[in-house]
Amino acid sequence: MNNFNFKNPTKIIFGKDTIEQLKNEIPEDAKVLLLYGGGSIKKNGIYDQVRTALANVSVIEFGGIPANPEYAVLMKALEVIKTENITYLLAVGGGSVIDGTKFLSAAALYEGNTPWDILKENIRTEKGLPFGTVLTLPATGSEMNSGAVITRAETKEKLAMGGPGLFPQFSILDPQVITSIPERQLANGLTDAFTHVLEQYMTYPTGALLQDRFAESILQTLVEVAPKVLKDPTDYKAASNFMWSCTMALNGLIQQGVPTDWAVHAIGHELTALFGIDHARTLAVIAPSHYKFNFEAKKEKLAQYGERVWNITEGSIDDKAYAAIEKTVDFFHKLGIDTKLSDYTKDYEGTAEKISQRFTDRGWLGLGEHQSLSPDKVEKIVKMAY
Ligand code: NZQ
Ligand code: ZN
Repeated sequence: MNNFNFKNPTKIIFGKDTIEQLKNEIPEDAKVLLLYGGGSIKKNGIYDQVRTALANVSVIEFGGIPANPEYAVLMKALEVIKTENITYLLAVGGGSVIDGTKFLSAAALYEGNTPWDILKENIRTEKGLPFGTVLTLPATGSEMNSGAVITRAETKEKLAMGGPGLFPQFSILDPQVITSIPERQLANGLTDAFTHVLEQYMTYPTGALLQDRFAESILQTLVEVAPKVLKDPTDYKAASNFMWSCTMALNGLIQQGVPTDWAVHAIGHELTALFGIDHARTLAVIAPSHYKFNFEAKKEKLAQYGERVWNITEGSIDDKAYAAIEKTVDFFHKLGIDTKLSDYTKDYEGTAEKISQRFTDRGWLGLGEHQSLSPDKVEKIVKMAY
């Protein structure tokens, strides 16, 4: 096991009817900016629960943060924060609203001229404006980590940011919120969380027995609850296990002491930036090709995953590893998620070259756990995913 430091300061308030506890978490003298997305919270009752809980606090609202939070929209929210002297941010939404709020938390205290530099120059945020979240969509883990991904339509870019100042102070996780989520987004959430675990697990063995089993148990739980969540989102047992699995998949715990990959996400973000494909679906497109292309380097962990998560007992390490990739593709298909780029766009020719060139321009010359995935290899992986 590798050495590690681990600190996660986010307070989690989990369970049925917990949104009312908001009133205990936000200082009474705060001036709050309530941030939300396209309006789902107004239809499903979450907005009313939040406003009731905040009855005694001064609140201004900013809605309309789109999926894949857009820089130009967020810059308008930044103006509100400055002109209204906002002291506290409250994100009510999924990964997009929470990520947008993290960007605003950083940008509000940023001293440079152009907040886009936080993303472009990968500036770590040590201190941000305080914020909390009410999660409405289990998927990204953003509710308990310090990362965010922001999109800029103007330049078709999607870049990540983060830093120790960007953990939410608290996150409220009421699994009942999933009852109004469309099936497509539930499938996305399952796929995203599943891939988060793979990114931190599918590398090479380092003797981190407990982390491996943490990771495998999250994968097993997602596989078990997936059909139940899709069939009946009011099934509380399935919903609560789904929600907690998504949070645990990316709150930093399972990556301690082990190498991590994250190439699938790096490549996937480009597919969202170029074609607007849902984040989770880009991962399902890239992951199978990535694991096939890097088969030799990853086959021991692939085989272990095959044995422990998919009960593959027959054959050599190579056989089990191949079968594990097939099982993963099958799992995505059962969720209704297509796994080829050509399933999403007819304009895929030239995409591999474009992504490879972007990575070269950004100096991303070696992705993955061995920092060996050069842009020419990325190009091959994307072509395999056509
Ligand atoms: O905008 P509204 O109207 O709220 O509708 C949203 C949106 O259309 C809807 N939705 C959310 N909760 C709902 C609901 N509809 C009905 N009932 C509810 N309870 O779902 C749609 C998608 O929401 P979004 O927030 O975009 O989804 P998700 O949580 O999957 O977030 C995706 C974003 O997170 C980033 C992705 O790149 C993408 O931009 N990620 C963030 C990460 C992080 N911060 O750690 C890691 C991830 O790998 C990922 O990159
Ligand atoms: Zn993801």
